[in-house]
Amino acid sequence: MSTKVLIVYYSVHGNTAAMARHIARGVATCEQAEALLRTVPKVSDGRLAAPGAVPESGPPFVSKQDLLDCDALILGSPTRFGNMAAALKYFLDSTSSEWLAGSLVGKPAGVFTSTASLHGGQESTLLSMMLPLLHHGMLIAGVPYSEPQLNTTRSGGTPYGPSHLAGGDSQRSLDADEQALCQAFGQRLATIAWQLSRS
Ligand SMILES: Cc1cc2nc3c(=O)[nH]c(=O)nc-3n(C[C@H](O)[C@H](O)[C@H](O)COP(=O)(O)O)c2cc1C
Repeated sequence: MSTKVLIVYYSVHGNTAAMARHIARGVATCEQAEALLRTVPKVSDGRLAAPGAVPESGPPFVSKQDLLDCDALILGSPTRFGNMAAALKYFLDSTSSEWLAGSLVGKPAGVFTSTASLHGGQESTLLSMMLPLLHHGMLIAGVPYSEPQLNTTRSGGTPYGPSHLAGGDSQRSLDADEQALCQAFGQRLATIAWQLSRS
């Protein structure tokens, strides 16, 4: 049975989605692991995803069963005023029963974000995204400085998790450093999850 790395993200302009795909590529380099890409609905829809609801395009909405089944969880969000987007928080706020049951305790987890500006709150967003994961008892992993791009990047990339500089118009694609750090992060989470599942 493969190690399941669940990547749950919210994205409006596609940058966080592009990061998720690079992280999934990193997961896939671990041959024992598979990446599951999932999204959350807009909060303006005023609801959690109904069972069986499907987005207009892209990966499916995350379900509670996805949380129970995963071996590792990675959350991605655009930065919104130095914090995660409400859509992702709205989903996390619906996970009380999983918290009460301890469903995520001991599973590895990580976070990633995309911002318009370089100093627009990448680290604060990443740290705030870790808080609910810590309440769930998850084991947080970031990006180690042994990844060479972390020392040389002129754009995104933090030890707290991958990040991306999208620019004021949200049109800037991931550069080579940002891509490499996303992939290294995916590989790292998959490897940790696989190793933990064997212990
Ligand atoms: C309401 C709102 C708040 C935002 N706050 C920030 C911010 O605090 N810092 C920043 O750099 N960018 C901010 N942005 C820009 C987004 O983080 C940026 O467009 C993001 O990279 C888009 O990700 P996506 O392509 O996955 O939707 C904000 C955007 C919106 C709509």
